[in-house]
Amino acid sequence: MKKIDITVPVEALSYDELTESERALVDKAREYTTHAYAPYSHFNVGAAIGLENGEVVPGANQENAAFPSGTCAERTACYAAGARFPGVKFKEIAVAARGTDGLELATPVAPCGACRQALLEYETLAGRPVPVLLVGRDAIYRLPSVASLLPLAFTQID
Ligand code: THU
Repeated sequence: MKKIDITVPVEALSYDELTESERALVDKAREYTTHAYAPYSHFNVGAAIGLENGEVVPGANQENAAFPSGTCAERTACYAAGARFPGVKFKEIAVAARGTDGLELATPVAPCGACRQALLEYETLAGRPVPVLLVGRDAIYRLPSVASLLPLAFTQID
């Protein structure tokens, strides 16, 4: 038997330590928490995807009375980017959230499993790592890629 330890490299940064383009993406994700339609959970999530052509595509969670027809912020942004700019590579991603008290989460928000898998598809299409910024009040986590968020991911390619 061989034991394999998988580690996830995470950099915990302050807002000031981010690059200019990262700060713009974080600002957009934070702004889009106000675009959430979350009357059931009252959990407001914003996402922003920076594309290689310089465009930023934002998203916010959209809930629905017919659970589980609603969609997370990350997938809203991800599919909007794919629809608006087909074939354009993803460059970086930021996600922010405000909890039921309306305040930004102190600890960085982390995407759900389904969003990780969806985003991974677009990282694969990009052909290179797409860094992810998980935004919190007290820290911003930078991960080097979507794949690092989803170890042992499902893939059809061997
Ligand atoms: N949600 C997101 O938008 N992104 C995540 O990564 C986790 C959860 C949304 C889904 C639902 O509208 C609300 O947050 C509570 O789960």
